[in-house]
Amino acid sequence: MHIDIQLIPSAPDADLLSNRAVIVIDVLRATSAMVHAMSQGAAEIIPVIKVKEAFQVAKTFPRGSTLLGGEKDTRKIQGFDLGNSPREYIAEKVKGKRLIMKTTNGTQAFHLVASGGEIMVGSFFNIGATVRRCVESDRDLLLFPSGDEGNFSLEDTVCGGMLIDLIIKRGERPVALTDASHCARVLYQRFETNLLEAFYLSRHGKELVDFGLEDDLPYCAQTDMFDVVPLYQKGAIRISD
Ligand code: MLT
Repeated sequence: MHIDIQLIPSAPDADLLSNRAVIVIDVLRATSAMVHAMSQGAAEIIPVIKVKEAFQVAKTFPRGSTLLGGEKDTRKIQGFDLGNSPREYIAEKVKGKRLIMKTTNGTQAFHLVASGGEIMVGSFFNIGATVRRCVESDRDLLLFPSGDEGNFSLEDTVCGGMLIDLIIKRGERPVALTDASHCARVLYQRFETNLLEAFYLSRHGKELVDFGLEDDLPYCAQTDMFDVVPLYQKGAIRISD
C-alpha cells in the first residue's frame, strides 16, 4: 500500500487520483459534522460549492425531505437550517433527511477529488473504522486535508498523520510513504497524547474560539465515536451497504 498526503489543498493530478482511494479530512468541522450526521441516520449529504447552488438543489427535492447546513465565516448561513457544528447534527433533526451542505473548505474538497477511486469521509470520530476499511481494501491511498482557505491546515494534517500511523501499526500490509506522509506522521506523533493541543494551536481553532464555538474543539477531537465510513459517489455522500 502506497500512502501519499496532499499537504496543500489544490486539485490533485488526475493520474494520482485515478487508481487510489481518497480520504477527505476537515476535522474542524465539515467532515466531523458529516460523519456525525450520517451516524445519526441522515439519508445522504450533497456537498455544494456555492450558497446559491444549495438553495437551487434543495428546490429539486420534495418539500420537507431536505435540510440546508453549513457555514460562512464559521456562522450559520442565512436561510439555512443548521450551522456546521457536529453537535447540531443529531437524530431528532437529521434522521432520514437529505442534507445539502456548503462550507468554506470541506465541501469544496470533495469536488476537487471527485475523479478519485473510492472517496471516504474521514475525521477523528471514525478513524478506527476508516483504518480498518483501508487495510481491508489494501488500495493505494491519497489523504486529502481540506486545508484552510487554500493553506496548510495543522489539525487536518494531524488527523492524516494518525491515519497513517494506525495503518502502519496494524502491521498487516507493507506500507510505502512519501516524504509528505512521513511528515504528517511525525506531526501526529508530536500531538499523539494531546490532539486538542493541535486544535488550540491552529489558526482555524483559534478563530472558532474567538467566535464563541470553543466547545467544538474538544468535541471534534474525540476518537472512535462512530463505526461508519461514509462514501462520496456521484455527487452525494452515503453509507455504503
Ligand atoms: C470548512 O469547511 O471550512 C470548515 O469546516 C469550516 C468550519 O466549520 O468552521
